[in-house]
Amino acid sequence: MSISVTREPEVAGATGLEMLKMGAARIQVDDKKIINCRADLNQLVPFKYDWAWDKYLNACANHWMPNEINMAADVALWKSKDGLTEDERMIIERNLGFFSTADSLVANNLVLAVYRHITNPECRQYLLRQAFEEALHTHAYQYVIESLAMDEGRVFNMYRELPAVSKKAAWALPFTQSLGDPNFKTGTLADDQRLLRDLIAFYVVFEGIFFYVGFTQVLSMGRRNKMVGTAEQFQYILRDESMHMNFGIDVINQIKVENPELWTPEFQEEMIQLIKEGVDLEYQYAKDTMPRGVLGLNASMFKEYLEFIANRRLGQIGLPPQYEGANNPFPWMSEMLDLKKEKNFFETRVTEYQTGGALSWDEE
Ligand SMILES: [Fe+2]
Ligand SMILES: [Fe+2]
Repeated sequence: MSISVTREPEVAGATGLEMLKMGAARIQVDDKKIINCRADLNQLVPFKYDWAWDKYLNACANHWMPNEINMAADVALWKSKDGLTEDERMIIERNLGFFSTADSLVANNLVLAVYRHITNPECRQYLLRQAFEEALHTHAYQYVIESLAMDEGRVFNMYRELPAVSKKAAWALPFTQSLGDPNFKTGTLADDQRLLRDLIAFYVVFEGIFFYVGFTQVLSMGRRNKMVGTAEQFQYILRDESMHMNFGIDVINQIKVENPELWTPEFQEEMIQLIKEGVDLEYQYAKDTMPRGVLGLNASMFKEYLEFIANRRLGQIGLPPQYEGANNPFPWMSEMLDLKKEKNFFETRVTEYQTGGALSWDEE
């Protein structure tokens, strides 16, 4: 089926930097659009996309800081001669190598590429919160690396010295470069697809697939009472990342609703291939970080897990599953995401922030 494109070329959206027009008509909900919107971007309300604002509020309610987490047990275990096997040490080191730079790539993609082209204030509000959370994640990895007295230069350089770590970063960078060109703007079919491609590459593949082998490996060490502080950091990060991905999926789907002409059969096929490439790269990462299998895990379990989550990601953006019969070999991973099931773990800190964040003026 071919869809004719009726849109005029060069209808680039607002940026928020336009000169003020005194007495211009007030913003109506119907004026708002995720991309190519001409309405003033400096007015948060009236809300159109309640899901974006709700995610912003939820993210704030889940606030945490890396240095609140006690790393003492990890330091002792890391220093002890026979506390961890060589394979376990490799898992920790390579994951810190990947993640310590990965969140900078995500933050740069948001700030230098995506933000400018998302023409909706409530989505931008969430993007600003997400950008701060990416900074917290980089902080968390730095904090773990420092606590364990690792060679910082070696870990932070892994993404350009160790092929196992560099491949995923190298895959993602061109998507940001494509939008980072200062002359790039949305408004044509091809340019809007370029933005949508970047959103799918980062929200669905990078944050939705590329993080999951590392999260599973480190969290399963925590479940076996090893590197529990590091695992706790990763658990907070996983919770944030899951919300980032869900926000990205809502944005992608809303762009599809508002601009159905972008979702051509060719583009859909390209996105399916993009996600399959992501699965292959992440499976390679599983093999590179765990060459001999460890903790009752092996690379082939990760293959099925990645196929299982890829099917879910595909379905979430309206594409057909590609891996028949893939089941979840790590059902406990979904429990890690569910706050209600992790009451003891999260309750105290979340409550502290929610009360601590509200200033009370009548107390002396
Ligand atoms: Fe992150
Ligand atoms: Fe993220």
